[in-house]
Amino acid sequence: MTSADSARIPRHIAIVMDGNGRWAKLRHRPRTFGHNAGRKAVRTVVEGCLREGVKVLTLFAFSSENWQRPQDEVGALMELFVRALDKEVDELHGNGVRIRFVGDLGTFENGLRQRMTAAMSRTAGNDALHLNIAVSYGGRWDIVQAARKAAEAVARGEIRAEEIDEQLLGHWMCLADLPPLDLFIRTGGECRVSNFLLWQLAYAELHFTDTLWPDFNQDSLKSAIEDYARRERRFGKTGEQVARKA
Ligand code: FPP
Repeated sequence: MTSADSARIPRHIAIVMDGNGRWAKLRHRPRTFGHNAGRKAVRTVVEGCLREGVKVLTLFAFSSENWQRPQDEVGALMELFVRALDKEVDELHGNGVRIRFVGDLGTFENGLRQRMTAAMSRTAGNDALHLNIAVSYGGRWDIVQAARKAAEAVARGEIRAEEIDEQLLGHWMCLADLPPLDLFIRTGGECRVSNFLLWQLAYAELHFTDTLWPDFNQDSLKSAIEDYARRERRFGKTGEQVARKA
C-alpha cells in the first residue's frame, strides 16, 4: 500500500448501528432477533477494519436514551452483551484487538460491569485495532463529564478557569488519547447523529446508508471507505490552501 492509499483509509471510524428492529420486523421476528443478527454484523465489520488497516472503530451499542426502551428489550440487550463478551473476547484478543467500553459504566449491574472491566484489562496491551463500544453513552453526557473534571481541577487549584480552552477540555473527553474521528457511518436510513460523539464529530466526514445494520457487510464497509476517500477534507481552509499543502 502506498502512503497515498493509506491516507485514504480512515484511521478512526464510528458507527451508529441502526435498523436491527426493522430488519427483524421484515422477517416477522421479535426485535431481539434483529439485535442478534446485528452482533454478527459487528464481527464482520471488526474483521473488515483489521483487513483494511483502520486503527480505531467506535460502535454505538447502547445510548443513554436506550434505557427508556421496553424492559424486556433492555434485558435482552444486556444478555446479548454478556454472551458476546463471553464468546468473542478470546478471538478478539487473539487478533490483537484492544477493547474499551466508553460511557456511564456505573449504570450497569455489577456482573456485566466486571466482565467489561475484565475484557478491557485483558486486551489492554493490544494495538492492531482499538474497538470502542459506547454503552450508556451520550455525546452530551461526555461533554458534561469533561466539564465536571475541568471544574474539579479548578477547585483543586490545579488550573485557572481562564486556562480552559478547546484543547484542555478536549483532553477530558472520551477517546481523547486516540486518533481523531475521520468517518461517521449511520445505517438504517435516518440522517441524524442521535447524541453520539458530539464533540468528536467536529471535522468527521458523514456517511449515511439505507442498509439495515444486520445487512451491513464487507462490501458496505468498502463503499463507505471509498465514499470517504473521495471527499476533500478542508478543516476550515480553502480548497487551494489544501491543494498547495498536498
Ligand atoms: C439500533 O437498532 C440498535 C441498537 C439499539 C442496539 C445495537 C446492538 C447491537 C448491534 C448488538 C451487538 C453489539 C455488540 C457490541 C455486541 P434499532 O433497534 O433502533 O432498530 P430500528 O430503528 O429498526 O428499530
